Amino acid sequence: MSIEIVPLAQTDIPGAVDCVQKAFANDPYFRWAFNDPSKFNIQRNAASLAAHFQYGINCDCPISVAKITRAANESKTTDDIRLPAGTVVGIAWWYSPQAHSMTQSWSVWAQDWLLSFRQLMNNIRFLGRGGLNVRRYWIWKQVQQTAHDVIWKDPRGYYFCNVVCVDSQARGMGVGKKLMEDVMDKADRENMPCYLESSKGYPNVGIYEKMGFELVKEIECVDGGDVCKLYCMIRNPEFKK
Ligand SMILES: CC(C)(COP(=O)(O)OP(=O)(O)OC[C@H]1O[C@@H](n2cnc3c(N)ncnc32)[C@H](O)[C@@H]1OP(=O)(O)O)[C@@H](O)C(=O)NCCC(=O)NCCS
Repeated sequence: MSIEIVPLAQTDIPGAVDCVQKAFANDPYFRWAFNDPSKFNIQRNAASLAAHFQYGINCDCPISVAKITRAANESKTTDDIRLPAGTVVGIAWWYSPQAHSMTQSWSVWAQDWLLSFRQLMNNIRFLGRGGLNVRRYWIWKQVQQTAHDVIWKDPRGYYFCNVVCVDSQARGMGVGKKLMEDVMDKADRENMPCYLESSKGYPNVGIYEKMGFELVKEIECVDGGDVCKLYCMIRNPEFKK
């Protein structure tokens, strides 16, 4: 199976949505935030993810996708048949650093409003949030913000890995690392730190350690008896000779 890493294009959005939905189906945060499977509406969730990807493109966020390719002279392999050329098998979505002193640009402000408007339209179209436990969503936002206030010590901000995932059929083959490398290398050149959160301790913490991240804090989102743990990791810039 040959794979190319390319910037997310508009036409990749449906494939990227599908990849995220499959990769995060068993994610602890996802199961905590969508805690009633009988209410989960996969189409509503897809519409929300598509709106977020559109937002990411419009805001020039660094978003890469891994896609199956097959050169014309390459013979078909079993893997290629299972995953046709063009299939999105991985995504890495980052936010660029926001310095403390930086005020939000008017274009990002406008995109924030556009995203809220699209989500409102989705609420009307699908008659709700598709199973998202809104109280839990806000608990998560609050816990996350409190953690950032403590952990984010660099006033220049952090490259924030918002989403990274690889299709289960392509894991453990270096795709995740390749997807992350563009931004991690850029961060190294700029002497900037990177940050991510994972709700899966094993094996993700070990995987990200291999990419140069360090576990700096474990935080908990608590609602009633249900707890979702998040592993906060920072990668300090590496100097390459
Ligand atoms: C986490 C994830 C993105 C990693 O992507 P991946 O393509 O599987 O990872 P890679 O193959 O690039 O591996 C990177 C490193 O971790 C190691 N690694 C990969 N899987 C591992 C595992 N299960 N246990 C231990 N180490 C592992 C690799 O050997 C590699 O190390 P190396 O650089 O020393 O060779 C992917 O597994 C995934 O999508 N998981 C499910 C969704 C998810 O949890 N997303 C993250 C939410 S924060």
